[in-house]
Order: sequence, then structure tokens, then C-alpha cells
Amino acid sequence: MSATTPPPLVGEPTDGPLGADFGQETTLNCDAEAQRLFGLDPDALACPYPIFEKLRSDAPVAWVDAIESFVVTRYEDVAHVLRHPEVFSSALATGPVLARQMAEGLAQLAAGGDGELDMILSRVKRGRTPVLLSADPPLHRRQRNLVNRAFTQRRVREYEPMITELARRLVAEFADDGEVEFVSRFAVPLPLAVIADRLGVPRKDMADFKRWSDDFTVAIGNHHLGPDELKGMLVSQAEFYEYFNAMVEARRISPTDDLLSELANARLDDGDMLELPELLGMLNQFLVAGNETTTKLLTFAAKRLAEDCELADRLRAKPDEIEGFVEEMLRLEPPVQGLYRQAVEDVTVGGVAVPQGASLWLAYASANHDEAVFEQPEALDVGRSSSQPHFAFGFGEHFCLGAALARTEARVGLRVLLDGLRDFGLSERNRFEHESSYVLHGMRELWLTFTAAS
Ligand code: HEM
Repeated sequence: MSATTPPPLVGEPTDGPLGADFGQETTLNCDAEAQRLFGLDPDALACPYPIFEKLRSDAPVAWVDAIESFVVTRYEDVAHVLRHPEVFSSALATGPVLARQMAEGLAQLAAGGDGELDMILSRVKRGRTPVLLSADPPLHRRQRNLVNRAFTQRRVREYEPMITELARRLVAEFADDGEVEFVSRFAVPLPLAVIADRLGVPRKDMADFKRWSDDFTVAIGNHHLGPDELKGMLVSQAEFYEYFNAMVEARRISPTDDLLSELANARLDDGDMLELPELLGMLNQFLVAGNETTTKLLTFAAKRLAEDCELADRLRAKPDEIEGFVEEMLRLEPPVQGLYRQAVEDVTVGGVAVPQGASLWLAYASANHDEAVFEQPEALDVGRSSSQPHFAFGFGEHFCLGAALARTEARVGLRVLLDGLRDFGLSERNRFEHESSYVLHGMRELWLTFTAAS
């Protein structure tokens, strides 16, 4: 960045490739391989780990033009950033490119003078406020204090019978078929039904709920959105806010025993409550951060079981080890490969100067494979003991709110699969296509073969 360029305000999208100049001054420019990953090359998305390994060794804090950010790949550097939320803001959680595209797209839509769109935009604004993922301390702390107790390990344990029942019902629907497309028949409906159930969304509205979830995630880690996709996303957001606005009001007047009632009426000791936009933004994040991610975890785990019969047999015989297996799948194939932060002042990360306002992409997936922390990082070891945690759920202030829920869904879901089905294999129909996102890591489909347990 030249000396005359004013630094952007934290949280504001920038006009152009903010760091194109300072990236070259301060760090090795990232090699063509990394550009392939952030340019969404399908092979790089399917297996990004060799690219991360090279970055960790050659350019651990590398400027990447495609996302206008420093990409941080070593465990200790990622941990350093996560330990200092007061210096590394979450306000621009979508990253600079998407934030700018969204701002431009919204301005274009607003300028169109379309009455229907005006109405949509005004509804969308209801949920536009810093919330959890995009909030900084002290606001963030206040919000977490209000919602943490709804997601504790103890609370999630109460959901276990419901999750088991849902998983059994899903398996029963295809157990006699010998082959199944696992993503659509199990990995998507399980977490979706759990969160819908807890929020009190009736079964008849599940198709809308799924459509909203799909439309919200389409832009994450993909900067090639067309105007139609953008409009689709906004329409879905408007519908979602309208739907939950009414439900929140109803739950504030007459609460039930669901999660929505709990959140809508949660109070701090001083009587402080969540504002409506905060609540709507939070519900939006449960869909985006909660469903897609758990779906991807379940899918990678099922693929691994189909590739390794001995592992499947071992877990069937020793179900206590499923928990360790889930942790290893989270470490090896993290559904969230990395997320953004923004420097609020001039700082140094891994010896590289990062100017105020610059964006950083923290490669959680790379940190999870860092040989400096994890012995034989590419090996799956269900009994692995490491003194340092993996970053599949982040770390520190923004540590995943739904981690206990996701872990329980995965453990229970896999147990039901292992109990109900045998002889997992991968069908010839598989094409192993990955989603077009450098943030969310997952397969579009997974065809499994199996026999029903007697
Ligand atoms: C395998 C499943 C999941 C994965 C891999 C995952 C991953 C993550 C990660 C990496 C973060 C950290 C964000 C950051 O560093 O800025 C996060 C935060 C979050 N997750 Fe999850 N998540 C999962 C499941 C869930 C579920 C089931 C829910 C809720 C229903 C959920 C809700 C959230 C929320 C609200 C945050 C923001 C927390 C904050 O900023 O304070 N997640 N998740």
C-alpha cells in the first residue's frame, strides 16, 4: 500500500485490491498452486493439503491476490491471531472481495427502482447487524453470554434421544436398497431436522428451510456470483427474516419449550435481552454455520468408513472410539477450511508486516495438518492425543457455539449407521465432485453401497 493511500476503516469493504502493493513488499507472493486453490480449481479444492504444506514451508504468511488477503498457514501463527480478537477483528467476516461484491450488487439492485426489491432490501436490513461470527468484543461477549447456555454439553445431551430417533428413521428409509446417495438421504436431513426441531419449525416448512440454507451458503468462499444468485440470496434472506420475525414475536408473547423461545427470552443478570436484528442474524448463522458443516463432516466420515472396512468393523465393535474418529475427521477434513480476520492496527504475523485494515485468511485446515504440532499429520489415529487442539471449530473468543451439538450429531449418526448397515463400499456412480468454495469443504454427492444388518 503506498504511503498516500488512506487505510480502510475496519469492517468496511475496500474499493480495489487493497494489498496488491504491500503484499509484494512484505511477503513472498504466493505461488501458482495457491492461486489455483483460491481460483476454485476442482482438483485443488478436492485435496488442498499439499498446497497448504508448501505454503507452510515456503510462504507461511502469503499474500493472495484472488482473495485480497494474507493467507496464514502455520498453526502457531493462526493461534496467535485467534488469541487476539482485540487486534484482529471479525467485522469483515465474509472477506473483502465478497463484501465489496455484495455492496455493489445491493447498490445496483436498489438503483433499479423495483418496488418488490425495495421491500426485500428493507426486510434484509432487519438482520444486518454485527452478530457472533461478525461481532467483536465487547458486543460479541454480551451475545455469547446470552446464548451459550442453550448450547452447553449438558443441554445437548438432552437432545441425544431425539437425534438417535431421527437418524434411525432416516436409515430405515433406505436400509433395504443396497445403495444410497448419502448426502441427500442422511447427511443433509439429519442436522437440518435437528435444528428445525429445536427451533420449532414445523415439518411442512422444511423444504423452505432447506432452500434458505442452500441460498445463504452459495456465496461463501465463491467470488463468481451472478446477479441472479445474488438476488436469490436476498429473496431467501427476506423470506427467512419475515418467517422468523413472526415466530420470535409469538414466542415472546407465549413461550414454548423450544430453543427459539429460550433465545427470544434470554436475559443477562442486568435484564439485557437480544435485539430482534441480533436474534434474526443469529438464526441465519445457525443455518449457515450449523447445517452445511455438519453435513460435510458426516459425509467425509462415511466415505472413510467405506474406504476402510477394518476401521468400520473396529468402530462397530468399540463404539467408544467413534468420538476419536469424529475428532480425526474434523482435523483431517475440516468442513470450514479457513475464515477471515482484519487487522485493526499495523501488526506483524509470522514475521510479516500486516498493515492496519489488511485482511487475513486463517487456514484452519492447514493448521490442522501442521507437522510442527501433529505427529504424522496425514494419518488417521482415533486414539491420537495431542496437547494442542485442532482448529476445525476455530479457537478462542469465536470458538464454535454449536461444537457440542455437531459432535453429538456426528457420533450418534455414525453409530446408528454402523449398527444398521454392514459392508460399506463406494459405488461406481461416484464422481467425487467437491463444492465450489475455498471456505466450505465438502462433496456434492456420495454414493454408498452396503448390506442391511440382520
Ligand atoms: C461440523 C460442524 C461444524 C463446524 C466444522 C463448525 C465450524 C465453526 C468454526 C470454524 C467456527 C469459528 C468461526 C471463527 O473463527 O470466526 C464456528 C463458529 C460458529 N458456529 Fe460452528 N461449526 C459446526 C457446527 C455448528 C452448529 C451445529 C452450530 C449451531 C447450530 C454452529 C454455530 C456456530 C456459530 C453461531 C458460530 C459463531 C460463534 C462466534 O462467533 O462466537 N456451528 N463454527
